[in-house]
Amino acid sequence: MTPKRVAILISGGGSNMLALLDSMTGDHPARPCLVLSNDPAAGGLARAAARGVPTAVVDHRPFKGDRAAFEAELMTPLLAARTEIVCLAGFMRVLTAGFVAQWQGRMLNIHPSLLPKYRGLDTHARALAAGEAEHGCTVHEVTAALDDGPILGQARVRIRPGDTPQTLAARVLEQEHRLYPAVLRRFAAGDRTPLRLDPGT
Ligand code: GRF
Repeated sequence: MTPKRVAILISGGGSNMLALLDSMTGDHPARPCLVLSNDPAAGGLARAAARGVPTAVVDHRPFKGDRAAFEAELMTPLLAARTEIVCLAGFMRVLTAGFVAQWQGRMLNIHPSLLPKYRGLDTHARALAAGEAEHGCTVHEVTAALDDGPILGQARVRIRPGDTPQTLAARVLEQEHRLYPAVLRRFAAGDRTPLRLDPGT
């Protein structure tokens, strides 16, 4: 079967993007076709290029908040790369319902919480403040509602005494790098059954 063509959208260092790139080898049913960022300074762009993956930048700032115009520009490199699946990986722009509708059912995101808990930002600090016993990350299909959509996988970590948002985030990020590749592999093969990874350390 011809591997699915996966575009990965980033805004920063792209550690999840790297984990995805490094997983798409051998009999994996997908291959990266593009790494695309809204920020020309995103560190992930050089890391992707070093691995021979085509990259592109559509800087969101000139659009001054005109999300639809920015997203119309985003479509150009995505279509040129014949993208079949979009993976948001540390992509920090909110997408409009119009853009999401064009990729519905073919766009994934990773969020650093056990959704539906802690949508939005600062999830680690909020989980600690709430006295949670565990935290984690979720890969979900992207729908118009932020950090919503069908859950495709979750990985849990136990919260430890003395954890700070930074120490907790580091342990969650390790699980993100396990979860996202495992979910993409199944999703690209047409399997949407939710994956649960056992509690990390
Ligand atoms: C991660 O916490 C991820 O959950 C969130 O963005 C953060 C940075 O991701 N989406 P990365 O290192 O840029 O992949």
